[in-house]
Amino acid sequence: QSQPLGNGGGSSGSTGRLLRSAGPAPQPFQVPLPVPPVLKPVRSDATTDYYEITESVGSARIVPGRATTIWGYNGTFPGPTVVTRRGRAAAVLHRNRLPVPVVVHLHGGVIPPGDDGYPTHLVLPEGGASATGAHAGHAGHGRSAVSGNIAQGSRTYRYPMDQNAATLWYHDHRMDFTGPQVYRGLAGFHLHHDAVELALPLPSGERDVPLMICDRAFTEDGSFHYPSRDPTLLEEAGVTDRYKDGVLGDTILVNGAPWPVLEVDAVRYRFRILNASNARRYRLALDPPPRSGTAFTQIGSDAGLLDRPVSHDRIDIAQAERFDVVVDFAGYPVGKEVTLRNEFGSGGTGQVMRFRVVRAARDDSAVPDRLAEVEPLDRSAASVTRTLDFDQRPAGWAINGRTFDPNRVDVSSSLGSVEIWRLNTDAHHPIHLHMGHFRVLSRNGRAPGRYDKGWKDTVDVPTGTETEIIVRVGGYRGRYVFHCHNLEHEDMAMMGNLQVI
Ligand code: C2O
Ligand code: CU
Repeated sequence: QSQPLGNGGGSSGSTGRLLRSAGPAPQPFQVPLPVPPVLKPVRSDATTDYYEITESVGSARIVPGRATTIWGYNGTFPGPTVVTRRGRAAAVLHRNRLPVPVVVHLHGGVIPPGDDGYPTHLVLPEGGASATGAHAGHAGHGRSAVSGNIAQGSRTYRYPMDQNAATLWYHDHRMDFTGPQVYRGLAGFHLHHDAVELALPLPSGERDVPLMICDRAFTEDGSFHYPSRDPTLLEEAGVTDRYKDGVLGDTILVNGAPWPVLEVDAVRYRFRILNASNARRYRLALDPPPRSGTAFTQIGSDAGLLDRPVSHDRIDIAQAERFDVVVDFAGYPVGKEVTLRNEFGSGGTGQVMRFRVVRAARDDSAVPDRLAEVEPLDRSAASVTRTLDFDQRPAGWAINGRTFDPNRVDVSSSLGSVEIWRLNTDAHHPIHLHMGHFRVLSRNGRAPGRYDKGWKDTVDVPTGTETEIIVRVGGYRGRYVFHCHNLEHEDMAMMGNLQVI
């Protein structure tokens, strides 16, 4: 009864080694798309809403007849969705009931350095369990993370949320262990609104749906299969690069469910698409495409709304990127089944989820021609130009020849300044900056690509190319990281420090 779906992964989307699941495989398009619950504040005062989340072990039903143990925010995968609105700060108390230290990062947030989830700012397990994380099983280098600001049991992260509406997400960021900890389930949405966005007639309520896409593999007993590796043993065995391109699974999950189905009215929907995979890229397309018009109308990028909508037939999305899109199911007859495909995959990895158009309905939504003010950021505004080379060295994945050292400043930038960063790669790397939102300026000396519009916090830089970004160093003074968001590359030290002065 189990149909082998594992396959693919060797296309232009990803070059890593595909892990194949053992045990019974889920059937595609059987389970309804879960939508993570919105987290309610435990209290509010004049300026701030207070939330509480507990990192704990949970159990999920993903493969037939098996329970999958997860590490989740409130024991769920994805974690609950945090919803904020500009003008109100959020304070999130995280209690760590896992057997390992955690670090929480709000990806895309503009946050003071002590609350940003710096990789060594650990939250140790409640009750003083092991801080070494010996059970974590990781693809990293096993360097110990000792410096910084360590909390015992819990930590309150304070988020000013003084930034534009955007689809943000929170996830684990523990130094050397981010890959395995996110893979086990530590990821959730944080949807941030502002008055500009709320005044637009975009699809909302049940027609505004976050889609967290990621890939996983499973062992025979239903556990997540993550390759544990002891660097010493591997070095002795001469195995150094087995997972060098990152961990790829054969099962595609959306909001934690394998190849789910969403029943939709024949109207417009807003989808906030997040690629939360450790190492997989997707080229998303609708099959069949709508009768008329375009498949995806992009309204937002990583860090906020675009100035004008952009039409796409397909969307290339790298790890940690977000595409905020509208799909109009009025382009399909009622009864149609529409598959969201991944053209970078094949077999099981070539499909993501399905939409079932179940009824005609009234649609008061629209996608206006003007969405938001996006200030132009011209090359001439930049006062500094830097070149950063992302490549592999014997010590790991490196930036300008050096692997991550929490105690070394790699880039020091003035608060409020504008800088051009030239990102060069030897392999395919999605580069992410904490705090510094940016725009893409050029790709190999040419104009930015079709997916490069708007404010971003992550940019995918293909093998052997140069991408120029223009960064606004906004926010707060202090130490932040920038890194590759292939989580195995990140754990293998492709990270640097940005000191905002
Ligand atoms: Cu999504 Cu530094 O992380
Ligand atoms: Cu990388």
